Amino acid sequence: MPQPAVDLHPYFTSLSEIQGGLDWTVVFGNDHPVELDLGCGRGKFLLDSSINHPETNWMGVELDFTEGRRAAKRLAKRELPNARVIGGDAKQFLTNQVAAHSVAAAHVYFPDPWWKRKHTKRRLFTDEFADMLSRVVKHEGFVHSWTDVGDYFEVISSLMNHHSDFIPLTPPPEPAGENDMDFLTNFHRRGRRMGCSIYRGLWQRR
Ligand SMILES: C[S@@+](CC[C@H](N)C(=O)[O-])C[C@H]1O[C@@H](n2cnc3c(N)ncnc32)[C@H](O)[C@@H]1O
Repeated sequence: MPQPAVDLHPYFTSLSEIQGGLDWTVVFGNDHPVELDLGCGRGKFLLDSSINHPETNWMGVELDFTEGRRAAKRLAKRELPNARVIGGDAKQFLTNQVAAHSVAAAHVYFPDPWWKRKHTKRRLFTDEFADMLSRVVKHEGFVHSWTDVGDYFEVISSLMNHHSDFIPLTPPPEPAGENDMDFLTNFHRRGRRMGCSIYRGLWQRR
C-alpha cells in the first residue's frame, strides 16, 4: 500500500500553498540575508551552505517534488533553522513571491541543458530569467551559475555579460574534488566523474 507523504513543513512547501509575496523575516524569523538556489535538486549545495553559513538564510526551489522533498528531508533531519525548499517553478516563484531587491544572491547550478534544439526553449536560463534575477537580487548582490555544458554556458555568459544591470566577476575556485563530498552539487560531482569541463560564472548586480 502506498505510504502517505511525510509532512515536511516547514522544510518543504509547495508553491501552490503560497499566496502572494513572501516576507523573508516571517519565513526565517530573522532579517539575515537570503540566498536562493534555483533548481536545487536533492540539495547538496543547500545543505552544505546552510551548515557552513548559519548567518545566511538559504531557500531552494525545485520543480521536481521528489528531489525537492529529498533535499528538505536532509535539512529537516538536522533541524536546520536557516534553510527551506519550495516545490515549484523557479520562474513563477521569482515573479510572484519574491520582492524586488530582497535577496543577497541567486545560485543556478547545472541547469537542465535540454540538448535537442527543439527543446532549448525549455531552458531555465533565458533573457527573461536574467531580467527576473536583476529584479530580485539586491544592488551589489550576486548571481552564480555553473554548468558542464559549454554551449549553454556561452548563452548564460552572453546574457549576463551583456545585461546592463550586471558586472562579470572572477568566480571562486572550484573545489578540488579530493573526496566524494568535495563538490559543490550532485551534478558537479557527476560532471567531474565523467571528465567534463566545469564552466563557472559570477556576476554582480549594479
Ligand atoms: C541538472 S539538475 C541540477 C540540480 C542541482 N542544481 C545540481 O547541480 O546538482 C537541474 C534541476 O533543475 C530543476 N529545474 C528545472 N527547471 C526548473 C524550474 N523551472 N524551476 C525549478 N527547478 C527547475 C530540475 O528539476 C533539476 O532538479
